[in-house]
Amino acid sequence: MSRPRRTELSGPAERLIRGRRATRAFLPDPVPEETVRAVFSLASLAPSSSNAQPWRVEVVGGAVRDRLAARLRAAHAAGRTSADFPYSDDIYSPVQQERRAAFGGRLYGALGIGPGDRAARAAYDAESLGFYGAPHVAFLFVTGRGDARLAGDVGAYMQTLLLAMTAYGVAACPQGLLSFYADEVRAELGVDEGSLLVGVSFGYADGTAQVNRVDTGRAALEETTTFHG
Ligand SMILES: Cc1cc2nc3c(=O)[nH]c(=O)nc-3n(C[C@H](O)[C@H](O)[C@H](O)COP(=O)(O)O)c2cc1C
Repeated sequence: MSRPRRTELSGPAERLIRGRRATRAFLPDPVPEETVRAVFSLASLAPSSSNAQPWRVEVVGGAVRDRLAARLRAAHAAGRTSADFPYSDDIYSPVQQERRAAFGGRLYGALGIGPGDRAARAAYDAESLGFYGAPHVAFLFVTGRGDARLAGDVGAYMQTLLLAMTAYGVAACPQGLLSFYADEVRAELGVDEGSLLVGVSFGYADGTAQVNRVDTGRAALEETTTFHG
């Protein structure tokens, strides 16, 4: 049986995709365990090349979450970073740098932090190692040899996870920053496999926080997408 072809908007799916956004202020209330299990079960339906599923996911809450937040802050204060995937600002092209700067202006503007206030921006980033106050955080590791191809599959997992959370009213923020402390995460959680790609903080959004209303926007379709034929 073939599926009906649609040219009109697909209501619930479009609402879900548009409804997801990075959340940076959370209520302390934990997400019920059965909801947590439901969203990670849905996320595991993500596609991957040859269905290899090259991900290892560590879901953290409670006292372990608190210990880990303290540990990450201590590592940050001591300048002790350990990134499995090397990073440098020059991975971005000039146009990407412009988009990043525009985003930074909006985010820090919503927080009342001025464009030149590097100290306040750095303090906010350090503070974010506490998962923006979220009661839970998931760490997504790339297994196998952990190269870029497999990392792409874990990216698909991440977006499936974020949409599953959105469907259940759970808010989240993917945090690449957390991956700069891979050794701390591994040691705290006893993980001995994979390369840490990203952490995803999650919980229920603080609806009163201005920072959760930052409008990020996107480049015009033609800037990123070409239709051939
Ligand atoms: C791989 C990845 C890493 C990210 N790292 C961070 C981070 O370290 N800190 C943060 O506040 N947001 C982080 N974000 C969230 C992005 O800033 C956000 O997705 C982007 O600005 C678009 O906004 P939106 O998600 O609300 O549509 C990350 C997102 C992705 C996909």
